[in-house]
Amino acid sequence: MISKDGSLNELLLLLLSKKGQYVSGEEISARFGVSRTAIWKQVNHLRQVGYEIDSLPRVGYCLKKSPDLLLPEEIIAKSKLTFLGRKIYYYPATASTNEEAKKLAGEGAHHGSLVIAEEQTGGKGRMGRVWLSPPRVGIWMSIILRPVIQPYEAPRITMTGAVAAAKAIRERTGVTCHIKWPNDILVEGKKVAGILTEMSADIDGINYVVMGIGINVNNDDFPGELKEIATSLKIAKGEAQDRLDILTGFLFRFEDYYNCLEAGEFKKILEEWRLLCCNLGRRVRVVGRNFTVEGIALDVDDDGALLVRSENGRVERILSGDVSL
Ligand code: BTN
Repeated sequence: MISKDGSLNELLLLLLSKKGQYVSGEEISARFGVSRTAIWKQVNHLRQVGYEIDSLPRVGYCLKKSPDLLLPEEIIAKSKLTFLGRKIYYYPATASTNEEAKKLAGEGAHHGSLVIAEEQTGGKGRMGRVWLSPPRVGIWMSIILRPVIQPYEAPRITMTGAVAAAKAIRERTGVTCHIKWPNDILVEGKKVAGILTEMSADIDGINYVVMGIGINVNNDDFPGELKEIATSLKIAKGEAQDRLDILTGFLFRFEDYYNCLEAGEFKKILEEWRLLCCNLGRRVRVVGRNFTVEGIALDVDDDGALLVRSENGRVERILSGDVSL
C-alpha cells in the first residue's frame, strides 16, 4: 500500500474504479485469487490509512471516501497518462524527492517515473536554499526524464514545467498566478511554487534529468522571513484546495507540453511562457552569484536566458540569478 518500490495495491485500484458502488467479496476473490479473510485484512489496512470503506454482509465492499494523500493508486485512477507515472515511488516522508529520484535514475528508473513524498525533511531549493516541505500540505514531487536533447537545451524542460504548473494552478483552483523568471510561480507577488532541475550528463549527452517541483497548496502560514515572500493556494483562496486534483492537472499539462517539446515545438511552449511571465517589459534587478544587473527585461530566449537592457543600453544575457524587483 505505502509503496517505495512502485508496486500498486490492486484491491485499492479496483475499489477506486468503482467508487461509491459495492464490489462483492466473491468478485474480488475470483479476480485476485485470494481468500475472503485476506481481503478483509487488506480492507482493514486501507481503513487504517484513512479510507472509508463500507462493508455489507453478502453484498460486498464500497469505497466511500479517500484520505487526503497523494497515493499512486489515486493518481492512476484520476488521470489518463501515457509515459508519465508508469512507475510512481511514494514516500510518507523522505529527505528530498530530488535526491531519491537521482538515486533511482542512477539505478535505471524509467523515463517518466515519479517520486512523491507527503513530507520532505531536507527539501532543496534553487541556489542551495532550503525548501520548506511540511507533511500533507503540499505537492513535493520529482520527475525522472531521459530526454533526447543536448544538455544546453535542458532549461527548456524547466520552462515546460513552469508553464504546466501555472496552467494547472489556474485551471484547477482559479487562482491567478504568474511565472517570475527563471521559473518561480507567484501569486500576488509571493512564491507559491518552485522548480529545481538537476541533470546528469556526460560527453555523449544527457543520462537523466530530475525535475523537482514544489507547490505550496494548503500551508496555513510560513515561519519568519518566509512570511513576506511565500504563500500557498489555501491562503490565496481562503480555503483548502484539492492536492490530488492540482497534481493530476499538472501531470496532464506537463505530459502534453512535453510531447510538444519532443516534437520540436518548443516555440509554442515559449509563447505560453511569455504570456504567463510577469517580468517582461518591466524593470528588474537580477542578482546572480557574482553580479547584479538592473534594467528592463526585454525577453527570454530559447535557452531560458533573460535579456535585460541595462542602464548603459547594453543588452545582457543572464542565465541564472534571482529577480528582486
Ligand atoms: C526553488 O527554489 O524555487 C525550487 C524549489 C523546488 C522544490 C522541490 S520540492 C520537490 C523537489 N525535491 C526537492 O528537494 N526540491 C524539489
